[in-house]
Amino acid sequence: MTVLKNKKAIITGGGRGLGKATAIAFAKEGIDVAITGRNEEVLKATVAELETYGITAIYAVFDVGVYEQVQTGIKGLINQLGTVDILVNNAGIAAVGSFNEMDVSQWTQTIQTNVMGVYYVTKEVLPYLLEKNSGDIFNISSTAGLNGNPNISAYCASKFAVIGLSESLMKEVRKNNIRVCTLTPSTIATDMTTELGMIPENSEDKVLQPEDFAELIVAGLKLPKRAMLKGASLWSTNP
Ligand SMILES: NC(=O)c1ccc[n+]([C@@H]2O[C@H](COP(=O)([O-])OP(=O)(O)OC[C@H]3O[C@@H](n4cnc5c(N)ncnc54)[C@H](OP(=O)(O)O)[C@@H]3O)[C@@H](O)[C@H]2O)c1
Repeated sequence: MTVLKNKKAIITGGGRGLGKATAIAFAKEGIDVAITGRNEEVLKATVAELETYGITAIYAVFDVGVYEQVQTGIKGLINQLGTVDILVNNAGIAAVGSFNEMDVSQWTQTIQTNVMGVYYVTKEVLPYLLEKNSGDIFNISSTAGLNGNPNISAYCASKFAVIGLSESLMKEVRKNNIRVCTLTPSTIATDMTTELGMIPENSEDKVLQPEDFAELIVAGLKLPKRAMLKGASLWSTNP
């Protein structure tokens, strides 16, 4: 247990993948965790796992891309937690297909989830952090937010936008002791990358794992309050 014990965190998309690994890493530090997602069964199972670390774990079911749901969901979680110190904007989707062939609804849904979702959730959490004059926000972009690539235009556009949103917010609220960190990880083995065929079999010692990513976030949180991890790209040592 560390200085982070009893802090309260909200992690969007915390039921699986990078969000779940982050929730477990937080629980190991004694942080109480609220996770969100659309699949209640997955969230319930992850909450049960988190509780084995002796922390308070709760969940809310909502789509980050629907503002009314975000408003109700975040309010309910903060009421239960009593306060909030840490927000991890992790929920996201990846749509793959050529620019010409991808339909408008898939493009729109990607932007709605990956960009508007980050905006909506942050908009609902930020007033609490401003009130406390303290807090940490991690926004998960991607290496796809740094360079365009073929057949992934909507995802790249969304992750470029997350960087713009996140860095602008950082420059606004740094004076309020709120640290905003923009993360741009490379490929990590999760459902998302497995479904896209990006993870070779038996590659665990070569490909980044979700817990590697979670360690980076915890390291950022443990910096002295005068110091801030502005951003970081997590890469595998294997090219
Ligand atoms: N894995 C990588 O290599 C990698 C690299 C760079 C960046 N990232 C980013 O890291 C984040 C997590 O990725 P991951 O690999 O862990 O993906 P994942 O395994 O597919 O998990 C995605 C998570 O987001 C949630 N989610 C998706 N759409 C949602 C919506 N509309 N409303 C609420 N929750 C939603 C999912 O929960 P439900 O299904 O329950 O809704 C799930 O918990 C994403 O933003 C992704 O773009 C991943």
